[in-house]
Amino acid sequence: MLQILENFSLKNFNTFGIDASARYFVEINHQDELVELFMDPQWLQTERLILGGGSNLLLVKDFDGLVIRINIRGIEHRINHQEVFIEAGAGEVWNDLVNFCVDREYAGVENLSLIPGSVGASPIQNIGAYGVELKDVFRSCQAFEIAAREFRTFTREDCRFGYRDSIFKNELKGKYIIVSVKFGLSLIADINLKYGAIEQELTNRNISKPTIKDVSRVVSHIRVSKLPDPSTIGNAGSFFKNPIINADQFQRLQSEFSEVVHYPAGDGLIKLAAGWLIEQCGWKGKVVGHTGTWKNQALVLVNHGGATGEEVYSLSSQIIDSVYTKFGVLLEREVNIIS
Ligand code: FAD
Ligand code: EPU
Repeated sequence: MLQILENFSLKNFNTFGIDASARYFVEINHQDELVELFMDPQWLQTERLILGGGSNLLLVKDFDGLVIRINIRGIEHRINHQEVFIEAGAGEVWNDLVNFCVDREYAGVENLSLIPGSVGASPIQNIGAYGVELKDVFRSCQAFEIAAREFRTFTREDCRFGYRDSIFKNELKGKYIIVSVKFGLSLIADINLKYGAIEQELTNRNISKPTIKDVSRVVSHIRVSKLPDPSTIGNAGSFFKNPIINADQFQRLQSEFSEVVHYPAGDGLIKLAAGWLIEQCGWKGKVVGHTGTWKNQALVLVNHGGATGEEVYSLSSQIIDSVYTKFGVLLEREVNIIS
């Protein structure tokens, strides 16, 4: 029997540590419980929030609806020649899955070490770091269609992955609940050192032939040096996306700001480092009330303790305004705003 809790505090269920509550809260431990939950038509009409680890959302106020916390567990793996097939429950912790693979030398997710959150949320924004994106190892996912009360499989093509983007953030937003994800890894390590900082750190450690474990360790080290640990300083990682602009816009920008940090983004487009834009506007490490930006990474907004969601949101608006005024570039929030 499902237990629906009322007026439930979400403080420990979001990495910003925002003290907001949910009108209703339910934890799902098995996919069949989703069918059971939605047998009651009340929940079809109620506003809903699907919750994994709460590491990519900002609760601007109390949530006047049903929070559905996904805690479906289990990791299965099968090897066929050099290929490794993995299926994981949506409620598994992403980094536990990474460690499961790294420990066994299954290659493919080592660059995605130490990203917080759940397996089920990983396709939502196509998580990415250090030259690898989820789509590189994703095979398919199983999701529950709320309105039809049916399960459906999504292939990689169905998901329409992009930079921090998928169909689940667009046309299908709020319509499906991911219950499990299948991955394809390899027994042959194809070490990805595209991200300069990894190579640099390997050189510092005198490692010339890195293993999967080395890459995982180095990525974890770099992340810890830059990003605040949510267990001590509330945050949700990068608050904004790195903006992508066209060649004309870029030329104009570079003629005025020759130092602008940028990368090719394919199709003649250019990706700008939002952290650089924000730092240039004087925000890096700035404390504003209970909030601010992180001292080592201006793209990360933080809760210094006791911040409300509104305060963090208001700071993000001020940052958007000042970056736009100085550079004419519009930042887009990457974190999901729950208001
Ligand atoms: P939540 O925050 O719980 O949910 C995020 C969104 O997904 C919400 O819209 C929610 O409704 C939806 N959702 C969650 N679970 C499901 C489900 N089972 N079915 C359907 N919808 C669902 N991200 C990166 O890509 N790269 C990084 O390098 C990175 N670094 C980070 C570093 C820090 C310190 C932090 C705090 C965050 C970082 N993030 C990064 C963001 C975050 O880790 C990812 O977005 C992660 O996938 C969020 O997982 P979650 O389970 O916490 O999702
Ligand atoms: N920079 C600054 N000042 C800053 C921060 C960054 O000048 O305060 C410049 C530096 O030149 C730096 C460059 O920006 O070299 C890039 O910074 P970093 O390597 O930290 O990466 P990022 O572009 O800021 C992105 C992702 C991260 C991911 C890292 C590593 C986005 C929005 N963010 O950050 O993802 O971990 O690359 O791949 O794409 C997240 O999504 O939550 C997240 C943390």
